[in-house]
Amino acid sequence: MIANNKLAGVTLGDGTIIPRIGQGTWFIGDNPSNKSTEIRALQCGVEQGMNLIDTAEMYGDGKSELLVGEAIKGMRDRVFVVSKVYPHHAGLNLIVQSCDNSLRRLQTDRLDLYLLHWRGSVPFSETIEGMEKLVEAGKILRWGVSNLDTADMKELTRLTKGTHCVTNQVLYHLGSRGIEYDLLPWQEEHAMPIMAYCPLAQAGSLRNGLIGHPTVKEIAERHQVNPFQLLLAWCIRSGNVIAIPKASSEVHVTQNAKAASIQLTEEDLRKLDTAFPKPTRKVPLDIV
Ligand SMILES: NC(=O)c1ccc[n+]([C@@H]2O[C@H](COP(=O)([O-])OP(=O)(O)OC[C@H]3O[C@@H](n4cnc5c(N)ncnc54)[C@H](OP(=O)(O)O)[C@@H]3O)[C@@H](O)[C@H]2O)c1
Repeated sequence: MIANNKLAGVTLGDGTIIPRIGQGTWFIGDNPSNKSTEIRALQCGVEQGMNLIDTAEMYGDGKSELLVGEAIKGMRDRVFVVSKVYPHHAGLNLIVQSCDNSLRRLQTDRLDLYLLHWRGSVPFSETIEGMEKLVEAGKILRWGVSNLDTADMKELTRLTKGTHCVTNQVLYHLGSRGIEYDLLPWQEEHAMPIMAYCPLAQAGSLRNGLIGHPTVKEIAERHQVNPFQLLLAWCIRSGNVIAIPKASSEVHVTQNAKAASIQLTEEDLRKLDTAFPKPTRKVPLDIV
């Protein structure tokens, strides 16, 4: 089913095809009065092909997972569910408990993808062993990482079964292109797509002047889309990046889904490169 999705396009390290645009859920579920709107927005996104939903045990201390669980009830088999384990829960003694708690909140018997949220003090080898045990138990179908820079990825994939990691979720948007220097090429070489978080730079708040930039506005207008849609189209342009924008209304979700069919031209990309240049040297991984 996922392979036939109309937004299908990015192939994970294990061959699974997932949509080029999914849905983030940070802060979703925090405010009970927004519950029904947020559930409808997520379901509307799934209907339009954004059937990858990203959450984490950290988000709202489980409130995001609880809301996602309600949203996907009755459509679980159509959704690719991603959750994340805190680094301090990613050791052999706690990872199973964390995963079980996420499964319970999400009202499901398996996660499609489980990510180490960021690197902590637990050795990678122990986290890999824990992830592999969860795969053997059928509680997760595959695993990956988040917020790891190139040196960390090299270290991880040198370890036994480290190459089973299918993705690395990192910050990436037009105003923050640091990963293009070495992490993105390294992951492309290793057939491991990037999952881009904050692809809208948190509605522009992470980079002053991004949304209203004349080049962004001009190209968006020519394609008859808005700057946010342009940012998403730019983010997924290579076919090796999945963007996971968070949107809490059906209007935003619908706009975001449409971004998958925007075809940027070479000239568009050249203009955007001039306005927001690629890095020419190594810069530390951007995070929020
Ligand atoms: N692994 C990590 O460490 C990490 C860190 C940060 C985020 N993430 C994941 O990545 C997801 C995305 O990142 P993010 O939520 O921080 O930021 P984001 O997706 O870049 O931006 C979200 C903001 O953009 C707005 N928005 C969405 N669609 C829009 C549209 N079409 N037009 C105008 N505004 C629009 C949203 O408003 P509304 O809500 O009002 O629609 C919200 O304010 C998160 O939700 C989370 O799942 C992971």
